[in-house]
Amino acid sequence: MFHILAADRVFILTGAGISAESGIPTFRGAGGLWRNYRSEEVASPHAWRRDPHLVWEFYSMRRRAAAEAKPNPGHLALAALEHTLHDRLFLCTQNVDNLHENAGSRRVVHMHGELFKSRCEDCDRPPFDDPNTYDPPAALPKCDCGGQIRPHVCWFGEVPYHVDEIFRALNECTIYIAIGTSGVVEPAASFVAHAHGPDRPGQGRAQTFYIGPEEPANSAAFTKCLLGKAGQLLPNLFLCD
Ligand code: APR
Repeated sequence: MFHILAADRVFILTGAGISAESGIPTFRGAGGLWRNYRSEEVASPHAWRRDPHLVWEFYSMRRRAAAEAKPNPGHLALAALEHTLHDRLFLCTQNVDNLHENAGSRRVVHMHGELFKSRCEDCDRPPFDDPNTYDPPAALPKCDCGGQIRPHVCWFGEVPYHVDEIFRALNECTIYIAIGTSGVVEPAASFVAHAHGPDRPGQGRAQTFYIGPEEPANSAAFTKCLLGKAGQLLPNLFLCD
């Protein structure tokens, strides 16, 4: 059990593993999306330029799968933790699904974007809610300005969103917890080293924990890895002052 003291600030990073028990496939394990699709052909600026129909087909498939998924006890435990800690919890997710929000989390930082949002690639219209699917041979969606509408998702080779806000929170946290992420995709894979490292202005090192069924690639940077499924471990893990 984690004892969270009144002075603690908790940074939580979630990855695909937290949504696995809701039936959304992860990327790299058995049955992972990148076992069936080549990421550079469906999730990169190059793929978008070469075949936007294929990219929209991929994201339409993912929208359908995510629309059917329900939050699991792991998501619910993190929503309850936010209810107790308020702004002492910073919840950052690499996931583009909306299961944290559906569980009741109010302040979720989606560093890789949101599956149910789209944006225009040409004009500065902000990202907007878009639950639609665009499977070929349907026409590709267009903005009023004439530009192409694309998924509001960070592709390989693009810069993740909210990075300044994320590093501010990493500088301030006293407890860092990563859940269900394989620890291979940057910059998220290096957050633990930042939280635990000597570079933080005016702070000691945060305690760092990993939760998931297997050790991540960056396990050496964690104070401790708790091996098990998020939906089983998280509901009884936190004791807050
Ligand atoms: N509970 C917790 N963790 C789990 C569970 C579970 N029930 N089931 C699987 N996991 C773990 C796996 O052990 C694995 O370490 O979830 C992790 C999933 O790893 P990845 O598939 O690599 O997903 P993630 O780390 O989130 O990927 C990062 O890569 O392709 C990009 O943009 C995509 O955001 C994604 C990023």
